[in-house]
Amino acid sequence: MNDVLFEAATAVRMNAHAPFSGFKVGAALESDDGRVFTGCNIENASYGLTMCAERNAIFHAYAEGVRKFRRLVVVADTEAPTPPCGACRQIIFEMCGGELTVDLANLAGVQKSFKMRDLLPEAFDASFLTDPH
Ligand code: THU
Repeated sequence: MNDVLFEAATAVRMNAHAPFSGFKVGAALESDDGRVFTGCNIENASYGLTMCAERNAIFHAYAEGVRKFRRLVVVADTEAPTPPCGACRQIIFEMCGGELTVDLANLAGVQKSFKMRDLLPEAFDASFLTDPH
């Protein structure tokens, strides 16, 4: 199957800056209007300033003024497909919404598919800041 997002995530993964872990990740995010925004992990010698592929893809889209999304594909070279870390789950949920499809892939293709809301149950989001619940 021709999966444009998988191909884009696999291609951008090769630009990952991962000299400390050697673990390269690529992500591709599709907006509601069909555009594709990519990101790869960028590591830092301080380690804690490392930015994941998923967040870079989302920030890339936001920087272009895009706010509504359909699907995110994450690619790493692992047998079991790599899931987003906890920090990324919070960012994905808040910035893309719980209805986003999150597809996890290895180099052979997409292996698992989730709705974002299932990857972060009982999520904290901006509604808690304005609604007394
Ligand atoms: N990483 C990502 O970019 N996305 C993930 O889903 C998991 C982890 C990166 C962060 C770090 O550069 C390297 O992979 C090892 O944790």
